[in-house]
Amino acid sequence: MTASTSKKEWFATWFDTHYYHVLYANRDDQEAEFFISNLMELLKPNPETASILDLACGKGRHSIYMNKLGFNTMGVDLSAQSIAHARQFENENLHFQVQDMREPLKAKFTHIFNLFTSFGYFDSIEENQKVMQAIQAMTTEKGILVIDYLNAHKTVKNLVQSESKTINNIRFDIERNADDNHVYKYIHVTDADFSESYMERVQLLKFSDFETLLNQIGFKVTHCFGDFHLNPFDSEKSDRLILIAQKQ
Ligand SMILES: C[S@@+](CC[C@H](N)C(=O)[O-])C[C@H]1O[C@@H](n2cnc3c(N)ncnc32)[C@H](O)[C@@H]1O
Repeated sequence: MTASTSKKEWFATWFDTHYYHVLYANRDDQEAEFFISNLMELLKPNPETASILDLACGKGRHSIYMNKLGFNTMGVDLSAQSIAHARQFENENLHFQVQDMREPLKAKFTHIFNLFTSFGYFDSIEENQKVMQAIQAMTTEKGILVIDYLNAHKTVKNLVQSESKTINNIRFDIERNADDNHVYKYIHVTDADFSESYMERVQLLKFSDFETLLNQIGFKVTHCFGDFHLNPFDSEKSDRLILIAQKQ
């Protein structure tokens, strides 16, 4: 760990490098491709003119597929590790860059995608607003934003407080709890010669919270879906909260 790397960042990188892909093996490319295909069918961007930003792209599974569909795509993420991995897939129309989503890029995009609960890591409403302002600055006129988030109501209602699983001889002991504003997940990993803990914390943002944030930057919600099939959102039943908004 260098002096400039905080312990929290070091843990995040360590978990990402060694165990994220084991624990979340079901967050796979097929799921990403199915979701993107459905979104593109609905949004019908013009491959000749569209420019797409995958904001908090992780290792780039959605970006890579959007590029395969013929779209000019840029993926950005805070994790240098994930971007280094994604870069092996770069081509003339697919680029990746390390970037904090609270800061805007200079370029503008016709479509911005923020997928798989990649919002809500921050401590304050001001930081959420900063992300929204960056999105506002990076979107062209009438540009489209897609946010795919957890369904806060169902997440809290169905919270599995404690579970353990062993995958590839690695044991994961997971505890979850929630307060009014956040859901917390504590993951304790036990490998052959290693044992460490990691905490994930995500804000419990609801439809109305996103609507307020979006209205503040002059975006209007045009669609609200509850899963990757794009079925309508139902706060009791839906696994996801998927919002599509357009710059007015
Ligand atoms: C749950 S993962 C989803 C990644 C990707 N969208 C996917 O579906 O595979 C959330 C991502 O948000 C990124 N992230 C967290 N804070 C960020 C920030 N301030 N700026 C950019 N990316 C951030 C993490 O590094 C991580 O890759």
